[in-house]
Amino acid sequence: MAILVVGGAGYIGSHAARALRRSGYEVVIYDNLSTGFLRLARGFELVEGDIADDVRLRPVLARVDAVMHFAAHAYVRESVVDPRKYFRNNVVGALRLLNSALDAGIRRFVFSSSCAVYGVPGQIPITESTPREPVNPYGVSKLFFENALEAYGRAY
Ligand SMILES: NC(=O)c1ccc[n+]([C@@H]2O[C@H](COP(=O)([O-])OP(=O)(O)OC[C@H]3O[C@@H](n4cnc5c(N)ncnc54)[C@H](O)[C@@H]3O)[C@@H](O)[C@H]2O)c1
Repeated sequence: MAILVVGGAGYIGSHAARALRRSGYEVVIYDNLSTGFLRLARGFELVEGDIADDVRLRPVLARVDAVMHFAAHAYVRESVVDPRKYFRNNVVGALRLLNSALDAGIRRFVFSSSCAVYGVPGQIPITESTPREPVNPYGVSKLFFENALEAYGRAY
């Protein structure tokens, strides 16, 4: 099985790429290198591109079976100062990626969300049934995409 690790030149994505390869999966990394590093993708096939670029994505998605999505802006403080940047990448860009994957017939899509979707939890430890009440634009952008995935999962 071939997996497209989107954001695979970043911190978490590059670890995921290695773990997947160790488990025998074929890995292709897709990354625009905005905060990622070329050296973290060394030894993997790297396709440089943006998640919002559906023309660039199309031929890559045609040869993979699943997508793991780690590409995002991920700083809480920055998201408060510049929410537009966060909604553009984490919501608008992510939806373009999701729609491209759907159009390519991919039905396995794994999303790296964030504990920021829970805001200030009333109880620790956080579980998946903890109410999702984000308190900053970063968390809101992540929750939006969780909700989009739930809707797409039900519908498609
Ligand atoms: N680091 C953490 O502690 C943490 C915790 C919870 C969730 N997350 C989530 O995990 C994911 C990865 O976070 P990270 O810490 O590895 O960040 P990171 O910045 O190291 O990695 C993100 C990668 O995505 C790429 N990218 C960003 N926007 C892109 C775009 N538009 N098109 C293509 N590539 C793009 C970057 O170049 C980078 O390689 C994010 O979704 C983040 O919200 C991170």
